[in-house]
Amino acid sequence: PLNVGIHGAEIYIPKKFVNQTELEQFDGASAGKYTIGLGQLNMSVCDDREDINSICLTAVSSLLEKYEIDPASVGFLEVGTETIIDKSKSVKSVLMQLFVESGNHNIEGIDCKNACYGGTNALFGAINWLESGYVEEGKEWAIVVAADIAVYKSGSARPTGGAGAIAILLGRQAPIVFDRGVRSTFMDHVWDFYKPDLHSEYPEVDGPLSNTCYIKAIDKCYEGYLDRLEKYQGIVTPTLKIGDYYLFHCPYSKLVQKSFGRLAFNDYLRNKDAIPVPDAIKEHPNLTREKTYADKNVEKIFMDIVKADQKARVDPGLIASRNCGNMYCGSLYSGLCSLLSETPAESLAGKRIVLFSYGSGLSSSMFSASVQQDGASIAALKRISQNIRLADRLAARTKIEPKVYDEIMALRQATHNVKSYTPVSSVKDVFPGTWYLVEIDGMFRRKYARA
Ligand code: ACO
Repeated sequence: PLNVGIHGAEIYIPKKFVNQTELEQFDGASAGKYTIGLGQLNMSVCDDREDINSICLTAVSSLLEKYEIDPASVGFLEVGTETIIDKSKSVKSVLMQLFVESGNHNIEGIDCKNACYGGTNALFGAINWLESGYVEEGKEWAIVVAADIAVYKSGSARPTGGAGAIAILLGRQAPIVFDRGVRSTFMDHVWDFYKPDLHSEYPEVDGPLSNTCYIKAIDKCYEGYLDRLEKYQGIVTPTLKIGDYYLFHCPYSKLVQKSFGRLAFNDYLRNKDAIPVPDAIKEHPNLTREKTYADKNVEKIFMDIVKADQKARVDPGLIASRNCGNMYCGSLYSGLCSLLSETPAESLAGKRIVLFSYGSGLSSSMFSASVQQDGASIAALKRISQNIRLADRLAARTKIEPKVYDEIMALRQATHNVKSYTPVSSVKDVFPGTWYLVEIDGMFRRKYARA
């Protein structure tokens, strides 16, 4: 077997963040709304020195350096993002400047777009390429970039913003191998979140509808995933215990907790003997998927049932999301970085990681990967953890006041899509190795430099 999968990962986190408790106070929201109600601690902030190109440049150059990848050995590079600053020129083409010196211009892949799902489409593209007959000797690496700057107009959605970029190194004979045959996808036409106004960075969003769509996508993808486990892997009556770790697209961590409870609800509907439930569930008159999207009672009961499992199987993947916020396309893969960075290699070896990707509009998939347990794979896992060092990097950030965050948002709004512009934010307080925007010339061409 080709054992296609993950060899490495790198995450770029902006240095600036705003604290959600302080934001609650500043916004006049009730205490605990963002921290307990949404489950968020901090939110990453990008000023006018950063755009989608700069954060992707940082993630990819850092990945190449940390894993000592010869740029000439990369045969596939694809980007998933919904942070659109150009309707034609791709982020991928901008990233090609990292390959000029090596003389490598023969790299397949381009940008993928649909809300928070583009990174997953890029990942599937990389897996498909690695399994295909188009991989050439000496050019066997694939890189996937999943990144966004998530910003909302002021109001209830604003605390669910965030930013970040993840670059994933993929290849054959990997320490983390994608499970074949069990991918499950659900797509539909809905107006829950979209960005029709290209003059603005902000989406049009129907928050409650987007939450319902997300839960519906969980139901559909999980059902398809379990069906395929039965069909192709011969697993009898699988339940959520099949996944040792779960990574979810995370707009805010409370939604992930609800979603994990929803898996248990699905387990129960699939097999009434799967888990013990209270009488309130047994006697519930409307216990169907469709009639329970907004049922707080059912939601709470199943969240309680999975509490211990959530701590063990879900929380290790939420560190970056809770501290950086929604990275849209990057969100799910920031979960991967959280898990691989902060979980000991020995605890990961031999385990199955289940991933759920959701992009409004809507597109969603559930799939999984199995961590190998040979010595070389454990060594590779240790190296990944040392390279990411998520906790250290979060601790090295700079907290800004909500008032400053507000000013930055106003600046981004005023300078969105302008030409002949030199950014005004300082480049002093950024992490070493960060790419930043130097200027936008009179023909909208953007120039970048590296700190
Ligand atoms: N202490 C504790 N909890 C509180 C408090 C408080 N003081 N105040 C409110 N809460 C709880 C609420 O009960 C609610 O929890 P529940 O849903 O579990 O009952 C939660 O905090 C949020 O409060 P709401 O009043 O529902 O929040 P609001 O309507 O203002 O906004 C929303 C929430 C819809 C998520 C909004 O932030 C939004 O639109 N975000 C963007 C869309 C989004 O992220 N969708 C998710 C999927 S699509 C995607 O990824 C973009």
